[in-house]
Amino acid sequence: MKLPKRYESLLGRKASIAPMMEYTDRHFRFFARCLSKRVSLYTEMVTAPAILRGDKDRHLKYDSSEHPLALQLGGSDPDELGRCAKYAQEWGYDELNLNVGCPSDRVQEGKIGACLLKEASLVGDCVQAMLESCEMPVTIKTRIGVDDYDSLDELLSFIDQNVQRGCHYFTLHARKAWLQGLSPKENRTIPPLDYERVYQVKEHFPHIGIELNGGVERIEDMKKHLEKVDSIMLGRAAYENPWLLSFLDESLHGESSNCSKRSDIVAPITDYIKQEIALGTPVHRITRHLGGLFWGVPGAGKWRRCLAGFSGKTDLGVDIIAETACAIDDVPSA
Ligand SMILES: Cc1cc2nc3c(=O)[nH]c(=O)nc-3n(C[C@H](O)[C@H](O)[C@H](O)COP(=O)(O)O)c2cc1C
Repeated sequence: MKLPKRYESLLGRKASIAPMMEYTDRHFRFFARCLSKRVSLYTEMVTAPAILRGDKDRHLKYDSSEHPLALQLGGSDPDELGRCAKYAQEWGYDELNLNVGCPSDRVQEGKIGACLLKEASLVGDCVQAMLESCEMPVTIKTRIGVDDYDSLDELLSFIDQNVQRGCHYFTLHARKAWLQGLSPKENRTIPPLDYERVYQVKEHFPHIGIELNGGVERIEDMKKHLEKVDSIMLGRAAYENPWLLSFLDESLHGESSNCSKRSDIVAPITDYIKQEIALGTPVHRITRHLGGLFWGVPGAGKWRRCLAGFSGKTDLGVDIIAETACAIDDVPSA
C-alpha cells in the first residue's frame, strides 16, 4: 500500500473499534484505550447539523489518551461537512470519517448513511469539501452494497470515484444493507457476510487502505483477514468482550500489552471515574460500559451486580469496583 502523505498516519493500522451509537461514547473509548494502546478509536456518528447547531463540547469532547481517534460524521451537505471538518481539526482529531453505511429510516430521511452508496458523486463532493477544510485523512465507512445496487462493479465504481476525489482509506462492512423492510439491527445480521467481496476490492485497489468490518470476533480470524486487507474493524465483539482488545497490541503489532489481567486496568478506570464525578458525570454513565470485562469468566455475574449497584445511586464508593475485580481475578480458574 502506498498512501499520500496526509494518509500516512493510517499506514501501520491493523485494528479499530467501530463507531457504535449509544456505545462508543468517550467513556467507553477511555476504557478501550486502557486495554490497547494501538487500536484506533471512532466516535459514535454525529450528524453535521448536531455539531454546527448543537453543544460542541458534548459532541466533540474526548480524553487525550484516546488518540488515535476518528470523528465519524453523518451528512451529505458538502458545505456543512466542510465546516465540521474545521471543528474536528481544531479539536485535535486524527481522522475524519463519513458514514455511508447506516441503514436506519431516520438517517435516510436526512440523506445520511447507506443510501449515499448510490450517490458516489455527491459523496465525492463531501469528501472534497472535508479534505479542503482540514489536514486530516478523510475516510469512508460503507457497506458492500445496498438494495439492488450490490454488484462488485458498482462497489468498485463507488470507490474509484471517491479515490479520484482524494479519499484513500475505506472501511467496508462486509454485508449489503436493505433500505426497506429490515431494521438497522436486522441489517447487521440478516444480509450474509461476504468477506471475499472485500478482498476483491483490495485486489483491485492495492494502493489504497481497505479495512474489513463485520462479524470478526477472534484474534485468529483477524490474522487471517490481515493477509488480504490492511486492517480489521471490530464492532460488537469489542463491546461485548472488551478483554479481546488486550491481545491486539501483542498479537498484531508485536508490542507488549498494558495489562496481563483484567484487574490491571481497574486502577486507571477508577481514577478516571473519580475525575469525572468531580465534573458532575453520573457514575453509571461510565460503569454501564464495563459490564463485559469479565465476559465468559466465572465471577462475571458478581462483576455485573457490582456495576449495577451504581445505577441511580450517587453515594456508592467507587473503590468497590477495584475490590470486586481483584477478588474475581484472584479466584484460580478450574
Ligand atoms: C449499537 C450499534 C450502533 C452502531 N452505530 C453505528 C454508527 O454510529 N456508525 C456506523 O458507521 N456504524 C454503526 N454501527 C455499525 C458498526 O459500526 C459495525 O459496522 C457493525 O456492527 C458490524 O460490525 P460487527 O459485526 O463487528 O459488530 C453500529 C452498530 C451497533 C451494534
